[in-house]
Amino acid sequence: QKDGYPHFMIKEIHEQPQAITRTITPRIKDMLPDFSEDGIPDSFFEDVNDITIVACGTAMYAGMVGKTMIQNRLHIPVTVAIASEFRYEEPVITDKSMVIVVSQSGETIDTLEALRLANKYTKKTLSIVNVKGSSIARESSYVLYTHAGPEIAVASTKAYTVQAATFYLLGCKLALVQNKMSVEEAHEFIQTLSEIPNYIEEVLAQASNVEQLTKRMTNAANAFFIGRGLDYTLCMEGALKLKEISYIHAEAYAAGELKHGTIALISEGVPVIAVATQKHVYSKVISNIREVKARGAYVTLLTREKEITDPSICDVHISLPDIADEFAIFEAVVIFQLIAYYTSVGKGLNPDQPRNLAKSVTVE
Ligand code: F6R
Repeated sequence: QKDGYPHFMIKEIHEQPQAITRTITPRIKDMLPDFSEDGIPDSFFEDVNDITIVACGTAMYAGMVGKTMIQNRLHIPVTVAIASEFRYEEPVITDKSMVIVVSQSGETIDTLEALRLANKYTKKTLSIVNVKGSSIARESSYVLYTHAGPEIAVASTKAYTVQAATFYLLGCKLALVQNKMSVEEAHEFIQTLSEIPNYIEEVLAQASNVEQLTKRMTNAANAFFIGRGLDYTLCMEGALKLKEISYIHAEAYAAGELKHGTIALISEGVPVIAVATQKHVYSKVISNIREVKARGAYVTLLTREKEITDPSICDVHISLPDIADEFAIFEAVVIFQLIAYYTSVGKGLNPDQPRNLAKSVTVE
């Protein structure tokens, strides 16, 4: 079943190109997003004043990517809510709000209850779900199934990338319907999206380099993931992955926020994984990296350049294939998954079965 891989997790990391292709291809017609096979009429995407995305854990972090992408394109408020919080809050939802719930299993109880609450306020509920016929899929007005195939490893990998890819299709559709994107722009956007599987293959080819660099991580007590904008949303997923399978305390910070307290935790040799793929904040992130480097951090830097102009700002540079800013997260997240996987294996742990965790959380 593991097709020759030592663990399900690494098998599933390598399955991501096919999983994305399976998820997006049936929803692209004439290089435009098309949800007719999902039975969703265009009217569903009209008249949306605001969007709330509700989920737990990794699915919520995919939602954070979706939020940034959709809000930047649509210029309407998009909020991400933790399902276990949302369900006990007073929801600020009207019949013009769209609520998108995200779940690999489709059975996470907090996400399901959040959906049930949202259903009381709006008919515009949409789920992004991997498991066919699951409760969340059944109870939302519409469902966009991701086609990741079964995810066995407890730590989610391919489910995250297909959820993010679905958000990109969705964002493009909303922007088109609401005249926030021209057909030409949409063509270009969908063209890039459909090339993502090839770019991920290129990133996967660097797996053995990532394995080498994690040799140092196995002794770490703490690690920090820093970035800005879309890179920051990704850092949250990177930190979660490392925590859950390698038991290293890891946190994600918006790079500009470090100096408001957290930088006090940086001391000699602390691993900092920094991502700088977004052009409009590139120089800002680089100066944040200088601040942690000056305090002794061991910096692994992910950028889309072949070589960085000033190599002294980091200890290890990982070069990602060059791609439009908005899409770089699909490359960087694969590096994060590999860092978590090889650190776990390097510590002699079983990444498929992390302690205290279950694949599907059907209790509160
Ligand atoms: C982390 C992980 C969890 C799940 C979360 C939601 O690797 O897998 O954080 O993402 O429990 O699960 P679903 O997506 O099934 O609702």
